[in-house]
Amino acid sequence: MAKPKHSRLPSRKSSSYYTLVLSFTFLLAFLLILLVSLGILNLPSSSRRDAHVANELNSIVRSTLDKRDGEERSEQWVELVSWEPRAFVYHNFLTKEECEYLINLARPHMHKSTVVDAETGKSKDSRVRTSSGTFLPRGRDKIVRNIEKRIADFTFIPVEHGEGLQVLHYEVGQKYEPHYDYFLDEFNTKNGGQRIATVLIYLTDVEEGGETVFPAAKGNFSSVPWWNDLSECGKKGLSIKPKMGDALLFWSMKPDASLDPSSLHGGCPVIKGNKWSCTKWMRVSEYKI
Ligand SMILES: *[C@@H]1O[C@H](CO)[C@@H](O)[C@H](O)[C@H]1NC(C)=O
Repeated sequence: MAKPKHSRLPSRKSSSYYTLVLSFTFLLAFLLILLVSLGILNLPSSSRRDAHVANELNSIVRSTLDKRDGEERSEQWVELVSWEPRAFVYHNFLTKEECEYLINLARPHMHKSTVVDAETGKSKDSRVRTSSGTFLPRGRDKIVRNIEKRIADFTFIPVEHGEGLQVLHYEVGQKYEPHYDYFLDEFNTKNGGQRIATVLIYLTDVEEGGETVFPAAKGNFSSVPWWNDLSECGKKGLSIKPKMGDALLFWSMKPDASLDPSSLHGGCPVIKGNKWSCTKWMRVSEYKI
C-alpha cells in the first residue's frame, strides 16, 4: 500500500517549489500596486495629445463639454482648426432659439456696414464690405448677457473687454474682402486697447458660399474634411463653413502680444441662401460703454 519513498520525494519538492513561486508572484504584484498607488511608478497610458501636431489641420481635438441643465441642445465640442492663425470652432455654441432671438432683435435696425478708414480711423462706406449690420449694446438683456458670459468663458477674456455684439446680414453676392480685425491707427485703440481676439457666431446655415476664409493660414488647408463642399472663394485659404449655432474663435494677437498677420480673414460671397452672423471683438483691456 505504502508508496515507495523515491516516488514521494519529488512531488513534495515540486509542491513547495510552486508555493514559493506563487508567494513571490503575490509579493511582486503587491509591491507593484504599492508603487503605482504611491505614484512612484507610472503606468504607460496612451496620450491622445501626443497625436497632435501643430499645423496639421486635419487633426481634431474633440472634447465633450457638459450640457446645460434641462436645455435641449446638440453636442457641444471644440475643434482646433489652425495654429497659424490660432483658430477654434466651438460647435453648437448657441441654440437655435438663441440664434433666432438675435436675428429678430437686430432685424429692424439693420443698416449698411461700414469699414474703418486706416488713415483717419473713422467709419466709412466701402465696396469691400457689402453686408448690413447693427450693434447690440453689451449687457442689453438677460439672453445677451448669458451669451456674453459664455463668450468670456470660451475665450478666457472678461465680459468687460468685449465690444457690443454686432449682428450682420449677407444676402446673395454680399461679402467682406479679407482684412485684419486689429487696428493700425491710434484713434480706435483709445478705448480698450488693441483687439486681441474675435468670436464669430453663425446664426444661420448657408446653402452655398459665405465661408469665413483665412487666406494667409499656414498649413495644408486643402486637407480639411469639408474641402469638397467649399466655394471657389472658400478654396483660397483655410475656410470654415457657416453652421447655425457654431462659434469661430480666432486670435489677432500672438501669445507674445505682437499682431498676427495670419489672422487675415474674409467673408466669401453668399452664393445660395442668406447668411446671418454675429461678431464679438475682445480687447486687450476693459472696453468702456
Ligand atoms: C494636402 O492635403 C491633400 C488632401 O489630404 C493632399 O492630397 C495633398 O497632397 C496635400 N498637399 C501637400 C503639399 O502636402
